[in-house]
Amino acid sequence: MSERTLAIIKPDAVKKNAIGDIIARYEKAGLKPVAIRMMQFSKATAEGFYVVHKARPFFDSLCTFMSSGPVVVLVLQGDNAIKKNRDLMGATDPAKAEAGTIRKAHGANIEFNAVHGSDSPETAKFEIAYFFPQTDIVG
Ligand code: CMP
Repeated sequence: MSERTLAIIKPDAVKKNAIGDIIARYEKAGLKPVAIRMMQFSKATAEGFYVVHKARPFFDSLCTFMSSGPVVVLVLQGDNAIKKNRDLMGATDPAKAEAGTIRKAHGANIEFNAVHGSDSPETAKFEIAYFFPQTDIVG
């Protein structure tokens, strides 16, 4: 079933010039970008995006990191896009991520973990709408 997911190439991965490598991995896996936006989050934008983690001890640090530099936000479309992208990313903690995954290749630790991907259809819907009006998504 074709579906859409939201991906973010985080400030750490942008800083290390990994945008091209990461987008190539999406495309090779059959995840087609249907919207792309490069931007720098304000702290408030990061806090709103990660609102489900508001009570977590790492929330403030996560939002400071996510607003520390430019990011690339993408909508990816393809069969089972949500799960496919999560498999491609690997475990949240790069130390536990399998070989061949994006986080294994580009993540440094559980916070600086290179990429984000939606974890469910409900989350994908919220996250896509957070950054993209329907009219900015092609395909
Ligand atoms: P992400 O997939 O973007 O979703 C929430 C983010 O919070 C996660 O990736 C990590 O960057 C961060 N995160 C999750 N767990 C921890 C943790 N225990 N300590 C610090 N950051 C975390």
